[in-house]
Formats: sequence, structure tokens, C-alpha cells
Amino acid sequence: MHILGISGSLRRASFNTALLHAAQELMPDGTVITIHDLHDLPLFDQDVEAQGDPALVVALKDAVTQADALLLACPEYNGGITGVLKNAIDWLSRPGVSRDAAPLAGKRVCIMGASPGVTGTVRAQDQLRLILRRAGAVVEPQGEVLVFQAHTKITDGRLSDERTRDFLARHLNHFLEILA
Ligand SMILES: Cc1cc2nc3c(=O)[nH]c(=O)nc-3n(C[C@H](O)[C@H](O)[C@H](O)COP(=O)(O)O)c2cc1C
Repeated sequence: MHILGISGSLRRASFNTALLHAAQELMPDGTVITIHDLHDLPLFDQDVEAQGDPALVVALKDAVTQADALLLACPEYNGGITGVLKNAIDWLSRPGVSRDAAPLAGKRVCIMGASPGVTGTVRAQDQLRLILRRAGAVVEPQGEVLVFQAHTKITDGRLSDERTRDFLARHLNHFLEILA
């Protein structure tokens, strides 16, 4: 099983990227999470798309297409998802000129998020679910991974809070059961 992990934050010390690293550690044998970096992904532009996807877009689309499923780590900015993540989803929601189908069509996606606040990205994740559904992706499983007060649970880039690690492991295992 190969899962592609994408963080909606470009920040070096991102709590959300740290969640992806924790997920990598918590995966059972036989399941691999590869993290795809969104630095330098061009802004979506229909004129550019019409001329053929740029190389970094092709690489992202290939990675998503080849993955069995996606794991998205979703920060919250101003009550919604980050521009970085929305931009990636906009590219992935389109076949472009050289593909038959959009990479997100029918793709199963697990989402999670972390923020220093008390609501733990719940608003951004609600928005993300709607956007992914519009793009034809399937969000699984039910339930939410909302890592609130993330600065108390993620230290030195590592998810150190044991209860949160256990909860995340259970959520990911549930996702894997659905994929199996
Ligand atoms: C522009 C901006 C808007 C933000 N808005 C919210 C918000 O609406 N809700 C929230 O919980 N945190 C908000 N934050 C704080 C982020 O949750 C915090 O910066 C977090 O560390 C971002 O995720 P990251 O650690 O993965 O980079 C905001 C941060 C920025 C920079």
C-alpha cells in the first residue's frame, strides 16, 4: 500500500508536516507514506494549463495518480484551507490536456490537521471535505483528527503527545481497513 502525503503548509517547522511524519512512523509494515512537497508548485493558471502542465504539476499529478490513496495535512488560515493546498487541489481536479481523468477523481483521501488554537482546524477541514467532494475525491473515514493546541503536543517537529499518537494510529488503521 502506497499513500501519498501532502502538507498544506510550506513552513519549515510546520505542525501539519510533523503530523505527516508521525503518520509515517505509525504506519504498519507494508504501508508506505511518501511526502510530496508543494514548494514551487506554480499557481494554477488556465492559460498555462492549456499549453500543457508545467513539470512540477506533472510530477504532482503522476504522484497522486500512482498512489493508492492520499493523506492530507490541513492547516487553517482565516477559517479556511491554505492557498497552498487549494492551489494543489485545483491542479489535481483537472485532467489537463494530456490525461483522460483528473488525478483526484475517485481518489480516496484521509485528512487531518493541527493548529495552536483550540478548534484544531475544524473549519478548514469542513471546507476541505466540500472541496474534495466537488473534485470527485472520496474522504474516508468518518471522524476527525483535530490536533488542537498543537504547540503542546508537537515538540521539536515530533508528535510527542501519546494520546494523540494513539488516536492518529487508530484513525489511520481505520483508513487502511477501508482501503483494503
Ligand atoms: C494567515 C494566517 C491565518 C491563520 N488563521 C488561523 C485560523 O483561522 N485558525 C487557526 O486555528 N489558526 C490560524 N492561524 C494559525 C495557524 O494555525 C498556525 O500558524 C499554524 O502553525 C499553521 O500550520 P503549520 O504549523 O502547519 O504551518 C493562522 C495563521 C496564519 C499565518
